[in-house]
Amino acid sequence: ERIAVDGLHVLPGAIDVHVHFREPGMPQKEDWATGSAAAAVGGVTTVFDMPNTIPPTDSVENFQLKLGAAKSKSIVDFGLYGLLGEHNLGDLESLAAAGVIGYKLFLGNTTGDLPCPSDGAVLEGFEILAALGLRCSIHAENSPILFWRQNKLKAAGRDDVLAHLAARTDVVAVEALNRAATLADWTGARIHIVHESCARSLPFIRFWKERGVDMTVETLPQYLYLSAEMMLNPGGEVLRMNPPIREAAHQEPLWAALADGTIDMIATDHAPHAIEEKYGPRIWDLACGFPGVETSMALMLTAVADGRLSLERVATITSGAPARAFGLYGRKGVIRVGADADLAVVDLNRSATLSAAALHSRGKVSAYEGKEVKGVPVMTFVRGRMVAKDGEVVAEKGWGELVRPNMAPPAPRNLNTTMKEILEPGQRPWG
Ligand code: NCD
Ligand code: ZN
Ligand code: ZN
Repeated sequence: ERIAVDGLHVLPGAIDVHVHFREPGMPQKEDWATGSAAAAVGGVTTVFDMPNTIPPTDSVENFQLKLGAAKSKSIVDFGLYGLLGEHNLGDLESLAAAGVIGYKLFLGNTTGDLPCPSDGAVLEGFEILAALGLRCSIHAENSPILFWRQNKLKAAGRDDVLAHLAARTDVVAVEALNRAATLADWTGARIHIVHESCARSLPFIRFWKERGVDMTVETLPQYLYLSAEMMLNPGGEVLRMNPPIREAAHQEPLWAALADGTIDMIATDHAPHAIEEKYGPRIWDLACGFPGVETSMALMLTAVADGRLSLERVATITSGAPARAFGLYGRKGVIRVGADADLAVVDLNRSATLSAAALHSRGKVSAYEGKEVKGVPVMTFVRGRMVAKDGEVVAEKGWGELVRPNMAPPAPRNLNTTMKEILEPGQRPWG
């Protein structure tokens, strides 16, 4: 069959390395059918699902449980993260053999309340991952230090101080990022910083990359387009998420970092919740996170229309860079002419108005209600099959397949060599 694409642009299908499709365990929020429908309509052909489901993806048994649900319902391809927790260091190798795309480490408290491992456990976990070569995605930027203080203030009913505290988290944000990078530097583990929200982190990211840590970084459309100030508008509480959407002053540095390569890619942190969990009088009691997989591509194409990013850069940050970082490049992340291509066909001249009602996700809240976008995905192909057209799903569920990473372990790093670089010959303790 021939498909006319006159006047349209063909991009590699987007790879979203950060979604929460909530199955198993939370069907009231999302499942693999609704989540993957949202992805397909949004031009996303591969998603990586986070392990904070019920049960968490922390063992081969729990991995198989999620795999079964995803295989039977997803219409887009998917990678599944394994958890790196203090309790399952002994499961990391078997999870790799089972086929995880990488691991997820929570260094801050968030949905699912998975405990943050101690630094020693992370060190041991990273040693195992360095030998495997698989990448570890890390939730940093809302440090347990802050969570401790927040909980005390919440218990004391001090909402006034809580709000003040939230606006001053940007320095604390850097702490967990640097702790993770320090441990990666030590072990040689490959890491990926998820939901980078904070302009303060950018010089540190440049430092760690320059030092040779294999670190990739994602930011999200919500940190680029939305601000803490907007949370004061009626209904603005829906923007509550971890790490918090920060003041508008963070936006320009994040855009610049996305353009210059400090930030490698765009993900969405698609984090649907039941509607009633998202609205209420006390912001601290509301669920954190909101949907995004469906609107990300249109928002990035709007950045092209606005002259912020080139179309080539959008293809890289939505597809090429994630494919390279997680060992899929060639199979994914490129435009392939052939019967098995993952493609997003987009109309750069079409405008649309974003609205919650139009979402395919079960979490129908929109952080972007009424926003005008210019540039929308109009057809999505997963391994050659059309799965979405003009905002509607056109494939049977179950077409999606598990993607497994092809990652050679990094060369072992010799710490003594590093010391030799630093010390003058006469100063070396070993002569
Ligand atoms: C995410 C969720 O709901 O699973 N929520 C969020 O606020 N980002 C968890 C997470 O990514 O931290
Ligand atoms: Zn997170
Ligand atoms: Zn997340």
